Amino acid sequence: MISEKILIIGASGQIGSELALRLRELHGNDNVIASDIKEGSEDLMSSGPFEIMDATDESGIAGLVEKHSITDVYLMAAMLSATAEKMPMKAWSLNMDSLFIILNLAKDKKIKKVFWPSSIAVFGPSTPKHDTPQTTIMEPTTVYGISKQTGERWCEYFFNKFGVDVRSIRFPGIISYKTLPGGGTTDYAIEIFHEALRTGKYTSFLSEETALPMMFMEDAIKATVDIMNEPAENVKVRSSYNLSAMSFTPKELAGAIKKEIPEFEINYKPDFRQAIADSWPSSIDDSAARTDWNWKHEYDLKNLTHVMLKGLKESLSLENK
Ligand code: SER
Repeated sequence: MISEKILIIGASGQIGSELALRLRELHGNDNVIASDIKEGSEDLMSSGPFEIMDATDESGIAGLVEKHSITDVYLMAAMLSATAEKMPMKAWSLNMDSLFIILNLAKDKKIKKVFWPSSIAVFGPSTPKHDTPQTTIMEPTTVYGISKQTGERWCEYFFNKFGVDVRSIRFPGIISYKTLPGGGTTDYAIEIFHEALRTGKYTSFLSEETALPMMFMEDAIKATVDIMNEPAENVKVRSSYNLSAMSFTPKELAGAIKKEIPEFEINYKPDFRQAIADSWPSSIDDSAARTDWNWKHEYDLKNLTHVMLKGLKESLSLENK
């Protein structure tokens, strides 16, 4: 049996960097090639092979696949919602060109399996907002959402037409203490922890009652590993699976932080990201993922808050040494 040889594109990013470390634990360091346009954390750079690569460089990516005899690709490179509103055309080409490169390599049998993350941003203002179903109205109003929804359609098309084994999850806001996200609308839920520890106060760019679906990084990584390990016939949805763990507002998150840091203060000053958040669901029905491949989350708001504060405190004290 040929074992997996993995390429992660976007391995220096928020999800990519933690995913790379987990996949290295599972498959062996040398079997997981990390790549990104920029270098990543020390852990990432020192634990296994790394290649500098632009996700939209078609011949460069094909060269990496050939050089390392890659079987599975995790395409984590993307421009997130807030930045994409500022650079629509750049976001479109990064998010779409990179996907076509990988789908075509899979179609040409150069690789066997693809993971490509989608997002709750595929939904829009006309979508049912609470417990958003797997299959429903999707009229995204953000550049990021339009690119992810289009990507989902192409994934399903390549599966139906060419048998490409592509697997995808619609991620909610992902919260972690190791690598910072960049340019997302859900980033407030990470910044708030940093500021709670550094200054004891935070000004949220979303209003106090803005409920959004969120997930702790551990759960996001587990979901990614699990869906890629499933026998192909169990992965019935080939556009992208709804996935959910918890939903909260900035006010509720601040309340959870206050339980651990009573003097913490929060203010609200919504900016352009409020309109993006208002167009997205506040909670997600992920029963298809739970039925098809036994998805189960572990972290809720309470243990998320505890783990985030603990993890960040440890890394801040290391920084100060
Ligand atoms: N976290 C992403 C964003 O805010 C959503 O997929 O853009």
